[in-house]
Amino acid sequence: MSAKLLEGKRGIIFGALDENSIAWKVAQQANEHGAKFILTNAPVALRMGAINKLAEQTGSEVIPADATNMEDLENLFKQAEEKLGGKLDFVLHSIGMSINVRKGQHYTDLNYDWMAKGWDISAVSFHKVMQTAWKLDSMNEWGSIMALTYMAAQRTFPDYNDMADNKSYLESIARSFGYHWGVRNKVRVNTISQSPTATTAGSGVKGFDGFINYADKMSPLGNATADECAGYVISMFSDLTRKVTMQNLYHDGGFSNVGVSDAVMAQFMNNESE
Ligand SMILES: NC(=O)c1ccc[n+]([C@@H]2O[C@H](COP(=O)([O-])OP(=O)(O)OC[C@H]3O[C@@H](n4cnc5c(N)ncnc54)[C@H](O)[C@@H]3O)[C@@H](O)[C@H]2O)c1
Repeated sequence: MSAKLLEGKRGIIFGALDENSIAWKVAQQANEHGAKFILTNAPVALRMGAINKLAEQTGSEVIPADATNMEDLENLFKQAEEKLGGKLDFVLHSIGMSINVRKGQHYTDLNYDWMAKGWDISAVSFHKVMQTAWKLDSMNEWGSIMALTYMAAQRTFPDYNDMADNKSYLESIARSFGYHWGVRNKVRVNTISQSPTATTAGSGVKGFDGFINYADKMSPLGNATADECAGYVISMFSDLTRKVTMQNLYHDGGFSNVGVSDAVMAQFMNNESE
């Protein structure tokens, strides 16, 4: 590896569930780039135990927090500053869950209690994380706060269900809070819109295999992997991207700007030589 981009930086990484998780790869690369960080996830996810292996590998501590619970978040940020020895330079929000998706409830027949819960976990939690850090004044100048999103926020993918609405809301929070962070603390806030990726959250979407193959065939560079996504996140935490803020950044091999590709067209063409 070349230069260490995060030497001396401190942060919190939400959402490493298992070794497929995007947050897992971010933690590994952040460690390679010299960062010190706290790993966190919901208590129920921590019971799986996989995160302890990651903590050991990266020399980091695990602090449980349900990202929808303000007390948990306050405790997390206070402890993180104490254990890491100062204010934070980066935060990764890599959290998503829809009960309607998980239970196969159709978008035209949503259960609104489940919808509210999924919205709280997948979107509002980003505001809660930032509001906690804001009130505790936890971020260093030129810090970077990131969340992960998907293009269903802009274009309709029917089986993405209410997660599409959650992602729109999440991206809007990044812009709205990003303004205030920029003015007060010179902190930047962005979302990365990632290709479909085979993780626990991703694979929960109906027809995911078709979805991932289609995106791959549509993208000139092919789908971006979780490792590649982590690389982008690291660059966004580094000092090389200080003036990028309030953006939704596509990391999708070009998918979002393609109308149709030759590979996809080939499947719809009649054989013209016949
Ligand atoms: N996998 C994809 O295809 C894809 C594509 C674009 C964006 N994303 C986004 O990337 C992010 C990470 O997902 P992933 O694909 O790595 O899957 P993942 O299942 O590994 O990660 C989702 C994480 O959210 C955590 N979580 C759920 N409820 C929580 C709560 N109440 N408090 C704290 N944490 C909670 C889970 O424990 C898990 O660690 C999500 O925002 C997801 O929507 C994923």
